[in-house]
Amino acid sequence: MKLAPSILAADLADLGQAVAACEAGGAELVHVDVMDGHFVPNLTFGIPVVAALRRRTRLPLDVHLMVSNPDRLLADYLRAGAARIAVHWETAPHLDRLVQQIRDGGAKAGVAVNPATPVEALVDVLPRLDYVLLMSVNPGFSGQTFLPRSLDKARRLARQIQDGGDLPVEIAMDGGIDRGNMRDVIAAGVEVCVVGTAVFAAADPVKAMSELLSLSRSEKL
Ligand code: DX5
Ligand code: ZN
Repeated sequence: MKLAPSILAADLADLGQAVAACEAGGAELVHVDVMDGHFVPNLTFGIPVVAALRRRTRLPLDVHLMVSNPDRLLADYLRAGAARIAVHWETAPHLDRLVQQIRDGGAKAGVAVNPATPVEALVDVLPRLDYVLLMSVNPGFSGQTFLPRSLDKARRLARQIQDGGDLPVEIAMDGGIDRGNMRDVIAAGVEVCVVGTAVFAAADPVKAMSELLSLSRSEKL
């Protein structure tokens, strides 16, 4: 399991400290939630913030674009240094084109799906993706409760990936993941866990990350 802490749940006045904690805690990625106040009711990190984070950490920046018309912003986030970009299925009628643009920009391409969007809608784009980001909460805020039906979606997606001939597509999950449900999440086939509150609301985020990682390794799934 790869851990991708979401810095949305960190002290936003101290993002340098948040990414330093990610490095110390053994995270593989830094998850950056970009919200536009339109597709989702919240406004977060702009392009200069991503560029500044890029200069602060060696960890790959995992950009989750929760914006309407992502085509207008992709090039800028790529230039700012995103290593992975997920666009929402719900925002993009021309997914093929966006996925190609992300890959041409040298980043890994993902598609994020809302809780109400069936994973079956991805079947035709799946062979061109590097990852799928399954939302286990309705996007917009950190600190929401995990939706248990997400586990079934992960299992269905894992089956689709297998049926497609073991496609090299990673399954990521985002929202409400904590110590209590992480084993179920991994057992359902999830390879990348995005975790916000369970890391950054902890008294010691570095310790919280190490504990999540050792839980993912030690427990029998
Ligand atoms: C939700 C965001 C998530 C969120 C994760 O819209 O995409 O990345 O911040 O935070 P927790 O783990 O608190 O749900
Ligand atoms: Zn996210």
